[in-house]
Amino acid sequence: MKKNKYKVIVTGGAGFIGGNLIRKLLQEKDWVVYNFDQMGYASDLSWIKDSEDYKLRHLFLKIDLRNKEILEKVVKEISPNLIIHLAAESHVDRSIDNPLNFIESNIIGTFNLLEASRAYWETISDIKKKLFRFIHISTDEVFGSLGLNGKFDENTKYSPRSPYSSSKASSDHLVQSWYHTYGLPTIISNCSNNFGPYQFPEKLIPLSILKGIRGESIPLYGDGLNIRDWLYVEDHVEAILLLAERGKVGKSYCIGGFGEKTNKEVQLQICNILDMVKPSKFPHADLIKNVEDRPGHDKRYAINSNLIQKELGWTPKMTFEDGLKKTIHWYLDNLEWSDSIMQKSGYSGYRIGQKK
Ligand SMILES: NC(=O)c1ccc[n+]([C@@H]2O[C@H](COP(=O)([O-])OP(=O)(O)OC[C@H]3O[C@@H](n4cnc5c(N)ncnc54)[C@H](O)[C@@H]3O)[C@@H](O)[C@H]2O)c1
Repeated sequence: MKKNKYKVIVTGGAGFIGGNLIRKLLQEKDWVVYNFDQMGYASDLSWIKDSEDYKLRHLFLKIDLRNKEILEKVVKEISPNLIIHLAAESHVDRSIDNPLNFIESNIIGTFNLLEASRAYWETISDIKKKLFRFIHISTDEVFGSLGLNGKFDENTKYSPRSPYSSSKASSDHLVQSWYHTYGLPTIISNCSNNFGPYQFPEKLIPLSILKGIRGESIPLYGDGLNIRDWLYVEDHVEAILLLAERGKVGKSYCIGGFGEKTNKEVQLQICNILDMVKPSKFPHADLIKNVEDRPGHDKRYAINSNLIQKELGWTPKMTFEDGLKKTIHWYLDNLEWSDSIMQKSGYSGYRIGQKK
């Protein structure tokens, strides 16, 4: 490997968004990618091709971000140009059942990575220091819940309402503090709900698709009128790369899909597509069943993406409808992937995140 190749550390690269990001990096850049992941229940690396080129440019390290000493050692050894931090516990329902995991991975894990990055960054040359970036991938959920009007933007006050969103909010505050106090060149993305290939089948869209394919009942929380702003994962990945290349240090950017939908609309649309591509004796929509709501279920998220649009020219390329069709076809073509990851994790699609 050439000594002066551009090196990026991606944390959480065995997860949904991290995996999509690394695939794009390997396809489109000649960078060397160091993938740090603890290999949790939602992790998967089966997509890595046997290509010799990929093997040389994708180096996986099984690292738990809760282990500060290891992090400090490997970050220094690698000497990266860029760190993109995605590793986190990511499912609100699981945060209701087991908040401690979220505090440890999302808050302590981010603290450890910031400290490891700072320890390394303070030792490098001024020019490398200036060009280094730490991109922290966060969520719109840190802003809380909207009524029927208005959208979140970069000036919205933080008001997280679940153990997941409060752990992400805490990590965002740490990242901002490391910028203001130590000068570490950080950028934060606050992105809306992602969907697309390789998402672990506990989240709304893949769970509903797989239940529909199997003819099992599709759970709809509460009245089904909670609204999310859906973004196709490849559009998020493009935005992350733009932030790394041209984002302003110390800033945060709101990233949304212009795809506001109620959960009920999402499930009905999935069922309509399944009726066309995998017809059954009865309409798939008959499988949708209202179940008890999620405790503290945020009503509505919506994003104003004007800043990233204006500053970096980013806008989502995929419509919700086209992205959903692509995603459904992907799950239909990759049923073995879902079966295998669900079996490995011990999760079969049952309800989680109810108050005991
Ligand atoms: N999925 C979304 O809709 C969405 C939207 C906005 C922001 N985000 C953020 O994007 C990031 C990635 O989300 P995702 O949907 O790909 O999640 P995911 O659950 O699919 O993947 C997360 C990965 O992080 C790893 N990880 C967790 N804790 C770790 C630790 N302590 N040490 C090392 N690795 C650890 C897991 O093993 C997993 O492979 C998260 O930070 C999430 O908060 C997600």
